[in-house]
Amino acid sequence: MTADYTDMKRKAAQQAATFIRSGQVVGLGEGSTANFAIQRLAELLRSGELQDIVCIPTSLRVEKLACELAIPLTTFAEHPVIDITIDGADEVDPDLNLIKGGGGALFREKIVAQASRREIIVIDETKYSQVLGTNWAVPVEVLPFGWHSQRDFLTSLGAEVTLRLTESGQPFVTDQGNLIVDCDFGPIPEPAELSEQLCRRVGIVEHGLFLKLATEVIEAGSTGLRHIKSKG
Ligand code: 5RP
Repeated sequence: MTADYTDMKRKAAQQAATFIRSGQVVGLGEGSTANFAIQRLAELLRSGELQDIVCIPTSLRVEKLACELAIPLTTFAEHPVIDITIDGADEVDPDLNLIKGGGGALFREKIVAQASRREIIVIDETKYSQVLGTNWAVPVEVLPFGWHSQRDFLTSLGAEVTLRLTESGQPFVTDQGNLIVDCDFGPIPEPAELSEQLCRRVGIVEHGLFLKLATEVIEAGSTGLRHIKSKG
């Protein structure tokens, strides 16, 4: 029997949605897995099981989706602290460090994550790996001005660097008007060290290594759900 990853994503996201309480400020993640949580939240609001929820989206696409689903939105000006965020990830290691940004929303996702009391990451079992970088390149958001220079810097750090393109072959542009370069470093034994190197480089806006930001991960696999909580 072939694994049904869509069903796994749905189950992980719906489980995470059970932790939302009335009156909370909720961060809405980007990606196909987080989408299931947004749909579930909309259902719970429609049925009245949840009330007085306000949400902060992690992308313009999610903002539009939330409006279509009549999910009330708020801003950081009104609510600088988020009670609970449900978001996806591309790769998760045993310390719950993540690679994110497959959907290109890593900058807003990281702002939302760092403002969240609970950052619940929902994944299917294919996303879990022992060492970050084993299965996924690190997306890096760069300013268009001088991006070739950042490309060469990232190459000098050992990455195979690819400018992200849209399906029509045009450069992918983020919600901030920046570019994404996907950086294949191979397995990254010291992600904190790499993160510091990337943060020091002018022209790099943000990167997809999310270290010590997830408070918990809900992973759905062929044998059921696993709820893993951060030790630190
Ligand atoms: C978007 C992200 C997504 O959460 C990540 O790419 C996972 O996506 P999916 O749930 O579709 O596999 O980081 O920037």
